[in-house]
Amino acid sequence: MTEIQNEKILILNFGGQYDQLIARRVRECGVYCEVHPYTMSADEIRVFAPIGIIFTGGPDSVYAEGSCHPDTTLFTLGIPVLGICYGCQLLAHHLGGLVTAGGLVTAGGLTTAGDETEDGVSSRESYSREPYSREYGKTLTYFDTENPLFAGLPGQSVTWMSHGDFMARIPDGFVRCATSDHCPNVAISDEKHGFYGVQFHPEVSHTEYGQQILRNFLFRICGAHGTWTMQGYREHAIAELKEKIGGEKVLLALSGGVDSSVCAALLAEAVGEQLTCVFVDHGLMRKNEGDEVEEVFSHRCKNFIRVNAGAHFLAKLAGVEDPETKRKIIGEEFIRVFEAEAKKIGHVAYLAQGTIYPDVIESGKDKAATIKSHHNVGGLPSVVDFREIIEPLRLLFKDEVRGLGRELGLPEALVMRQPFPGPGLAIRIIGEVTEEKLSVLREADAIMREEIASAGLAHTMNQYFAVLTNLRSVGVMGDGRTYDRAIALRSVTTDDFMTAEWTRIPYEVLDRISTRIVNEVPHVNRVLYDITSKPPATVEFE
Ligand code: XMP
Repeated sequence: MTEIQNEKILILNFGGQYDQLIARRVRECGVYCEVHPYTMSADEIRVFAPIGIIFTGGPDSVYAEGSCHPDTTLFTLGIPVLGICYGCQLLAHHLGGLVTAGGLVTAGGLTTAGDETEDGVSSRESYSREPYSREYGKTLTYFDTENPLFAGLPGQSVTWMSHGDFMARIPDGFVRCATSDHCPNVAISDEKHGFYGVQFHPEVSHTEYGQQILRNFLFRICGAHGTWTMQGYREHAIAELKEKIGGEKVLLALSGGVDSSVCAALLAEAVGEQLTCVFVDHGLMRKNEGDEVEEVFSHRCKNFIRVNAGAHFLAKLAGVEDPETKRKIIGEEFIRVFEAEAKKIGHVAYLAQGTIYPDVIESGKDKAATIKSHHNVGGLPSVVDFREIIEPLRLLFKDEVRGLGRELGLPEALVMRQPFPGPGLAIRIIGEVTEEKLSVLREADAIMREEIASAGLAHTMNQYFAVLTNLRSVGVMGDGRTYDRAIALRSVTTDDFMTAEWTRIPYEVLDRISTRIVNEVPHVNRVLYDITSKPPATVEFE
């Protein structure tokens, strides 16, 4: 991993589901961080030289056989540690406390709030005699605001808990610094060594002052300065790319999506004419999209090659109705067309890819170059003559990639572009793809996008588009009967696209979209709105 900041936080992942969210929250504070597996050794951590370490949550119990534990030598490195949920229990477990299962365990024999008034939090009758229990969901929590982790917070606020185990006894040298009605030891700290643990999740938005708590850890406890900015990243990345690439050639397959576009803009700025961008236009993009990509990149990249392969792709897709067969054909043809262009260029030292940080974290192999399985880049390396892959965005989250795009002066429409599947409109036309159907769909989709934008709703939905169904139905226009096509509208709101809610687009906006589509797009006489979530439906229709 390249050195891009000397002020960085290490997030050790113990298998929790929020590792990426913690990383994003830390970076939102202007502090660079990386997520690494919990198996990172103390020696590796010393070399990485973080100013602080965050332990994520995890599904295990610290006392269970086979559970995940850190290299405990890290506690001797003099680096502050914040343990979250399971990470908090790890601190207690390894530093001399006791973690036990929750449930309706009586307080007898365990440390109670009433017994421990000397450690900084005053006794509170409301919880001191209650049984300890598991806590899930929003929980009113009482904070010791003298503690640096909770400085500036009100004395009580809501946190979000998800723990079955709890700390029955806190380690020597620690004090309790937050409590709840059902759990006396919600947060613990050893200020001398810079060790802090919280049972709740400060990274989720349900924790009212979660971001403030993370800020306190970063700035008050770790002494961060918050200097991580996209301007800084841009300068650093450009210098680094210049040094690495030297006088060699770089080849990039540009799809017009956010990641490959930002990657192209960054490389163009770093190495100018040494970069060749090949944009394979498969003719399955949205209205005007191919021209927009050309407009932006023909200026920025001297060796910009647009291959207009629309007719070729349509010929290959003729008669094909099965969605997966369409995907396969488009993926294979994309590689063929790209390969033909790459052959003309000859050997290049580097093939660039717009891989981003979530792909790197998910792959769990943060040292190896990972090839995205995305159809239009997967498979390229075996057919292109290159020496090495470079991934200039591999340390950035999506919102940071967008920020970098803005920093590089890319147009807002491109930077904020919604996700678009590699096979393009081919999987939004049910059944066979033809030029005529493509043009109907492009017009309908463009109207939907225009109306969503002019209603100021684009930021409220993650993906929205029109689909050309294979349904024909009866309608009436003027005095005549019609038997025409039905367009379906689809819009989803989602965090990760694994699950998605259909978006509640206001009726008046749906009405405008529908009226315009039937009036302006020939051969459409019906507009439907898809109100299924994922699961059971998927985002795309095919
Ligand atoms: P589904 O339909 O699986 O979509 O719920 C989830 C997300 O993945 C995108 N998608 C694709 N992206 N090639 C891609 O590059 C594909 O074949 C493909 N199929 C679906 C979809 O647009 C949504 O964002």
